[in-house]
Amino acid sequence: MSTMQARAPDNLHIISLGQAQAGIRDEVLAGLQRQRKSLPPKLFYDAVGAGLFQELCTISAYYPTRTETAILKQQAGSIARALGEHTLVIEPGAGEMRKIRLLLAALRPVGYTAIDVSAQQLVREAERLAREYPWLAVTAVVGDFHDARVRRVLTDASGRPVLFFPGSTIGNFEPSEALAFLREARALTGDSGGCVIGVDLVKARSVLDLAYDDPEGITARFNLNLLARLNRELGANFDLAQFRHHAFYDESLQRVEMHLVSRRAQEVQVAGVPIPFRGGESIHTENSYKYHPQQFERMARDAGFERVRWWTDAQSWFAVFLLGA
Ligand code: AVI
Repeated sequence: MSTMQARAPDNLHIISLGQAQAGIRDEVLAGLQRQRKSLPPKLFYDAVGAGLFQELCTISAYYPTRTETAILKQQAGSIARALGEHTLVIEPGAGEMRKIRLLLAALRPVGYTAIDVSAQQLVREAERLAREYPWLAVTAVVGDFHDARVRRVLTDASGRPVLFFPGSTIGNFEPSEALAFLREARALTGDSGGCVIGVDLVKARSVLDLAYDDPEGITARFNLNLLARLNRELGANFDLAQFRHHAFYDESLQRVEMHLVSRRAQEVQVAGVPIPFRGGESIHTENSYKYHPQQFERMARDAGFERVRWWTDAQSWFAVFLLGA
């Protein structure tokens, strides 16, 4: 019996920078040994977590995905006109590459470069995109957006660089990190390029409460999966039933905080290290900042962008920003 393997499409180019992914052990132990325990939100996205996040994006309580999608669909023509021709779209953390599809027909970029540290999904999705859009030069870069080698790949490519960063992922950065990211984006895109960035906006607490503690319990599963991941990857022995998901909006900080709260005093082993918990003690797992459009515009200008436009939905829940030099 012979097996046939489909040939990779000619318009797909894969660049693997071959960096060994650093283990999560040190980062996890450092976070759990702090006085106020915390874990970085990037740890949510193992294969199980990425699947739960996709599920979350489809439920009605979690408004950001459908709201941003509607804005991108509606404004694709305006965004494309503002960006002009001969663009090279660069998307860090590209995931399923769903949202870029909303812009491709109108924008007709010369190329699309997706960057992600997890090779498997990146290559699979890039291959699918390349087959669907045979006129588009698709490049998949396996590496970290902040790695200088990735920068070299990006600056060597032709086309006016347009950084595409949807989903309000920028909201998961501290405001100082968001500013630093925008400065990096300004340097990368130069005087001829631009950015398209999704930003979640400040809104009524009731909407946020529902979105980050949905009735289906998917956000809770997404949050608790972090502990399950530590059990799988670090041989930890978290009893998930002994922790609960807790999310709340802090109005003064303009952010939703997510925590995992210990239901009782307990000790958990993580990578052979005992981690004690008091009853009610929490692990802070994520901040999701919400901006007023004018605040984000100011931040973009501080980062060196002079042309700033944005589009929102009828309820002003989400904004898509277009930043240029
Ligand atoms: C990926 N990120 C923008 C999501 C957010 O809304 O902050 C992650 C998420 N956390 C809980 N629900 C979704």
